[in-house]
Parts: sequence; structure tokens; C-alpha cells
Amino acid sequence: MTDRQTEIAEGQGAVPPQAAADVDHRLVAAGLSAGYDERRVLEELDLQVPEGSFTVIIGPNACGKSTLLRSLARLLRPESGEVLLDGSSIASVPAKALARTIGLLPQSPTAPDGISVADLVSRGRHPHQGLMRRWSRADEEAVLAALEATGMVELADRPVDELSGGQRQRAWIAMALAQQTPLLLLDEPTTYLDIAHQIEVLELCAALQRQGRTLVAVLHDLNQALRHATHVVAMREGRIVAQGAPEAVGTAELVEEVFGLASRVIEDPETGRPLVIPRAP
Ligand SMILES: Nc1ncnc2c1ncn2[C@@H]1O[C@H](COP(=O)(O)OP(=O)(O)O)[C@@H](O)[C@H]1O
Ligand SMILES: [Mg+2]
Repeated sequence: MTDRQTEIAEGQGAVPPQAAADVDHRLVAAGLSAGYDERRVLEELDLQVPEGSFTVIIGPNACGKSTLLRSLARLLRPESGEVLLDGSSIASVPAKALARTIGLLPQSPTAPDGISVADLVSRGRHPHQGLMRRWSRADEEAVLAALEATGMVELADRPVDELSGGQRQRAWIAMALAQQTPLLLLDEPTTYLDIAHQIEVLELCAALQRQGRTLVAVLHDLNQALRHATHVVAMREGRIVAQGAPEAVGTAELVEEVFGLASRVIEDPETGRPLVIPRAP
């Protein structure tokens, strides 16, 4: 990320860093079971998202990561148990208040046909508009800041469906940023991005976290999770196997338990964080 992008990320939103005395969990899943029709995916899952954290969820394909994120954003109703936002059941939060509090970038979002990048990003401002309050300067600034933070200014007038996969992904991230929610849930935000853009998105997440926001992301890359997260959640078969600091979760035992992969863990020479190296056959 360039200095300018960091500056924009750090200037995004007016979310004051929480006082140290505040209790630490904004978003909690308590005994959460959820799924689709006959198929139960999440099994009495307990999760605490620490306030002000960059929480990253890892786990094998189909273990329920997206289902969990959708439940946290109230896109999926629990079969039992509940999701708590600031201590109250999320089921009772009015829709607009929820949209101003939690932003979600789904795993495979679909844009309306022919919509431009700028129009897509502007949709992130809908929860901030009311009957009396139309498009404002604050909306304009939020959209521009989000386009700048994601390097999308030059592509603002292009139709979303004519972008490359990586550009499209960044347009969606910009939309989620324009929403300026204190909580941001991102489902595989680095998919389709080349390595440099992956790092840029992760650095952007880290900058937003430092600025006081709480982020929850699903990431495929275990080492990126261990490197960038402040809190790591490891899932398997609809349950949480471990959650904690990257140093606590990034062990060979856990990689074996969660992914069934033999590895060894060394210290990342750049960051001191755990670095997982798969064993040679
Ligand atoms: N809309 C859906 N309808 C029915 N089954 C689904 C739906 N979405 C996901 N599933 C199933 O739920 C399980 C968990 O999926 P998901 O939460 O997307 O996993 P992950 O994100 O960890 O890859 C998978 O077996 C998947 O096939
Ligand atoms: Mg998924």
C-alpha cells in the first residue's frame, strides 16, 4: 500500500478507538447452529470477535466459514443459539442500524448488469441515506476515499462486468469500505488478486484495524492469516477447533488437526510470526 492509501485508510470513517475499559467482544456467536434446509453446517459454535481486532477465519473447504460469516451478518437465521452484537441479540437490531454497523463482502457477489464502479461503490452509502437526507458531501467523500484506498479511481467509470477478476474484487472491497461500518466482514477478499494486490488488501485491513475498526475475514492462505491477523480462528466441520493469537494457533499440531497436513512451523524472518512449511513427501 502506498503512503497515500494508508493515509486514506486511516482517515476512513469516524470510528473512535475504543477505551481500554470497554468490554472486549463486539460480536459473539453463542451456541450457534445454522445451515440450509436439511443440512446443518454449524454445530453449536461459540465464537468471540475481540473488539478492535483483525480476526481471520481459516479452515478447509466447505467447513462452514462462509456460513458463519453470513450468520454473523444476519443473512442466515440460526437454527438455534444466537449472534450477539454489543451484548444484544442481532435479531432485534433494525435493518438500517445493522447496515450502518456491519458491512459484509460476500464470497461471490454479483453486480447489477452494466453498473459502473462508481455506482457500485455509491451503493455502499445507502444505509446512510434517509427519507430526508439525500446524497451528501460526506457520501461523495466516502466514495472517493474508498476508490482511492483500493486503487480504483482510474476505473471509476468502467462497467464492473468489464473488469478483470482482481479489479472487480477491489471494486467490491471499495463498496464495503464506503459503507464505513465499524465492523467489516470480508469473505475471501484476496481471491482473484495477484500477490502484490493480496498484500495491499491485507495491509489495508491492518490499517483499518489500527484505526479502530473491527474486521473479520476468511482467508485461504494460512500464512497470510498468521502474518496479518491479530486473532486467528481455526474451523473444521462446522466447529471451532482453536481461536487465539497467531502464535498460539499457528502450530504444526493444529495444522495437522485442521487441514490434515503434516508441516513444520518456523519463525517468519520478516515478522517473527509462525510460518507453516508443508512437509516434503
Ligand atoms: N446455499 C446453500 N444451500 C445448501 N448448501 C449450502 C449452501 N451454501 C453452502 N452450502 C453447503 O454448506 C457447507 C458449508 O459451506 P460454506 O459455509 O460455504 O463453506 P466454506 O466457506 O468453509 O468453504 C458446504 O457443504 C456447502 O456445500
Ligand atoms: Mg466460503
